[in-house]
Amino acid sequence: MFRAGETGGSLQTEADARVDGKPRVDVKGSLTDDASLDSLWKELTALRKENTELRGQVQALTEASVHAAKLVSELDETRLLAARLREREDQLELARDQATEASRAKSAFLANMSHELRTPLNAILGYSEIVEEALTESGRTELVPDLARIRAAGKHLLILVTDLLEISRIEAGKVSLDPQPLELAPFLAALGRSTEPLATQNGNQMTYQVDRAIGTIEVDAKRLQQVLGNLLSNACKFTNKGRIELGARRSGVHILIHVKDTGIGMPIEQMDRLFSAFTQGDSSASRRYGGAGLGLNLARKLTELMDGEILVDTELGKGSTFTMKLPVRQRPSTV
Ligand SMILES: Nc1ncnc2c1ncn2[C@@H]1O[C@H](COP(=O)(O)OP(=O)(O)O)[C@@H](O)[C@H]1O
Ligand SMILES: [Mg+2]
Repeated sequence: MFRAGETGGSLQTEADARVDGKPRVDVKGSLTDDASLDSLWKELTALRKENTELRGQVQALTEASVHAAKLVSELDETRLLAARLREREDQLELARDQATEASRAKSAFLANMSHELRTPLNAILGYSEIVEEALTESGRTELVPDLARIRAAGKHLLILVTDLLEISRIEAGKVSLDPQPLELAPFLAALGRSTEPLATQNGNQMTYQVDRAIGTIEVDAKRLQQVLGNLLSNACKFTNKGRIELGARRSGVHILIHVKDTGIGMPIEQMDRLFSAFTQGDSSASRRYGGAGLGLNLARKLTELMDGEILVDTELGKGSTFTMKLPVRQRPSTV
């Protein structure tokens, strides 16, 4: 502690000795009593402390203002980014509208063209049949195989055009369903019978696994037949000297109808594009088996319209099972 007696020092001016405007030492430099000096010292210490604190606060304020300036500049950047994002969103919206319009125009074009294509195709098929009959009657049978080829090619083209027409009608939102109660067991039996000639062409045997208590389902029978017909024709096409099973069972509020074959099966890599239009297995397979890769695309689109889905289970070289999962009750829908 600094004490007057110890230092014997003196304060030089009156001003130096003032604290709160009151003289604590006399002008001649002689010190007042110890108590005054003590209090002077305390105040000085307090002032120093205050000063240090103030400096700390100034420092903190400086740091805070630097931080604030950084935040402001970041905010500006964010605003700029947000503006750019809005601009990009507008561009994307425009592109989406254009794409939707293009897709609608494409579907409308295809729907019209498919219709125009079917009429002359039917004429080709009809006339080739008439000519074939006439040639057979007049004994000129050497041309009959060629005519049969014309007919087969024409039929194939007609199926493609019909599938295309159907897909574009669905895409254009022109297909509406007509769900009615349908007794499933007799329906599936009839469908199986009509598929048998196709199955036996490749030496396949048709079997049935339809639950007796399957009952009725509310469904558009024509569309259901179209989807199952597609699955069955695939099973017949990709199976040789094997078995094709048509089955159905109830599962809660759903009906599961399956087409199972012991055919060539599919590699796992094919799964993600299986239902896309114009996609088939590898090109050698499509050359060997024909088709255009539209059947499953159409089947899925129709099934989705029926509030259902198609599940696939397959193993390369072992066979495939396509299962149509449909709600027992369907709400009538117009798309
Ligand atoms: N039951 C099946 N067994 C093996 N492969 C199948 C089966 N069903 C479909 N595929 C594969 O899926 C592809 C697409 O089928 P799909 O759309 O009906 O067209 P497409 O019958 O005209 O080839 C077929 O080319 C084939 O590679
Ligand atoms: Mg097919």
